[in-house]
Amino acid sequence: MKIEIEKPEGKLGILLPGIGAVATTFIAGVLAVRKGLSTPIGSYTQMGHIRVGKRTEGKNPRINEFVPLANLNDIVFGGWDIFKDNAYEAAMKAGVLDKQLLTELKAEMSAITPMKAVFDRNYVHNLSGVNVKKADSKMDLAVALMKDISDFKAKNNCSRLVMVWCASTEVYIEESKVHQSLDAFEDALLDNNPAIAPSMIYAYAAIKSGVPFANGAPNLSCDFPAMTELAKKMEVPICGKDFKTGQTLMKTIVAPGLKARNLGVEGWFSTNILGNRDGEVLDDPESFKTKEVSKLGSLQNIFEPEINPDLYNDLYHKIRINYYPPRGDNKESWDNIDIFGWLGYKMQIKINFLCRDSILAAPIVLDLALLLDLAKRSGMSGIQEWMSFFFKTPQAAEGLKPIHDLFRQLMKLENTLRHLKNEDLITHLGLDYYEDK
Ligand SMILES: NC(=O)c1ccc[n+]([C@@H]2O[C@H](COP(=O)([O-])OP(=O)(O)OC[C@H]3O[C@@H](n4cnc5c(N)ncnc54)[C@H](O)[C@@H]3O)[C@@H](O)[C@H]2O)c1
Repeated sequence: MKIEIEKPEGKLGILLPGIGAVATTFIAGVLAVRKGLSTPIGSYTQMGHIRVGKRTEGKNPRINEFVPLANLNDIVFGGWDIFKDNAYEAAMKAGVLDKQLLTELKAEMSAITPMKAVFDRNYVHNLSGVNVKKADSKMDLAVALMKDISDFKAKNNCSRLVMVWCASTEVYIEESKVHQSLDAFEDALLDNNPAIAPSMIYAYAAIKSGVPFANGAPNLSCDFPAMTELAKKMEVPICGKDFKTGQTLMKTIVAPGLKARNLGVEGWFSTNILGNRDGEVLDDPESFKTKEVSKLGSLQNIFEPEINPDLYNDLYHKIRINYYPPRGDNKESWDNIDIFGWLGYKMQIKINFLCRDSILAAPIVLDLALLLDLAKRSGMSGIQEWMSFFFKTPQAAEGLKPIHDLFRQLMKLENTLRHLKNEDLITHLGLDYYEDK
């Protein structure tokens, strides 16, 4: 079946709940690239290449030349925050980027002012702000967000929109009855049910408006049956959860290698210090729990102790996040990995990653926005598992285990793009010894 992809004509509006460190680093980066001041390093869609055809053909186009993606010059930014700071002020406070660069972008960034947020301190204990909507019910709040979305589209003359959640991590919420069907969820919105967090209201408003939604935090947001039902009904692609950056990125790079060599792992201790607002929010045990659950899943999934009990059954995985203001956004993480090899002899690996959280997350926001828009124009809807590459806890269809291994995720991502372009899939499992593949 030949796939037809609609052309990316007109403007693409990228809507961001949460105009904090990640969102402003993303916006500033796109503006800087547009002005020729910088290079979009770390972005799969802008810097990545894909092999097409046989190895001998030497065809390796850039991703943004291979599939029809929105041009960076056609992007318009919008968003919501509980603080009134415009994107320039928020970026200055976040302290991720140099003041000199931000000064060069001041005019465009100052024009991006946050719309009033849907927020409730019961779901993010360590923050309070004034730029917040008031309404009688959660359904009324969803309707108000839908109005924001359609007003933004009209005012900015956008042909398409996408939404990427860049707001804070909410307290841990387990899936319950109200999340199981769209009817139950809509009743619960009308009843102000406490099982519905603000991020779910944004996701609902986006999907109901036909706008693709990506979830950059570990919140449930759109990861439950009611929301996937809505996404299918509205023919909208969705994906999540939690941008894969920093320590988890390293884990999903290193762990597949250890497993490939059949090395055992008995302990993996991970600790972090970070001092940005995200760190402050995660200092609350209930928000930390949401993050912890998101971070814990990757090793279990990669090592598959149920298949490899001798190597991974006793793996003790511990994660700590410590709020330490002097570090700001420049997080430092330490991993101590206790491994064992031939005849059970023990060894240790230490990883000390001095990273910059938002510098790693910003290109992911761009890639998610552009690829979700591509998915929508290609007629794809529901959970986009091929975008697992970008997430710590990839959302997968019910009954399916998500894929965490970065290299398997990349293969799935590349093959989906080849499929969209009606090219042969490349599995690297081919018959190279028998044919010239
Ligand atoms: N930086 C990374 O590497 C990384 C990686 C994975 C996930 N994340 C997640 O991305 C999110 C953003 O991270 P950040 O460093 O930019 O945090 P941040 O605290 O700088 O920004 C979040 C912003 O969201 C706003 N906010 C909170 N609740 C809101 C709501 N309901 N509606 C609108 N705005 C709201 C806050 O006021 C704040 O300005 C966090 O959830 C974080 O856990 C970040």
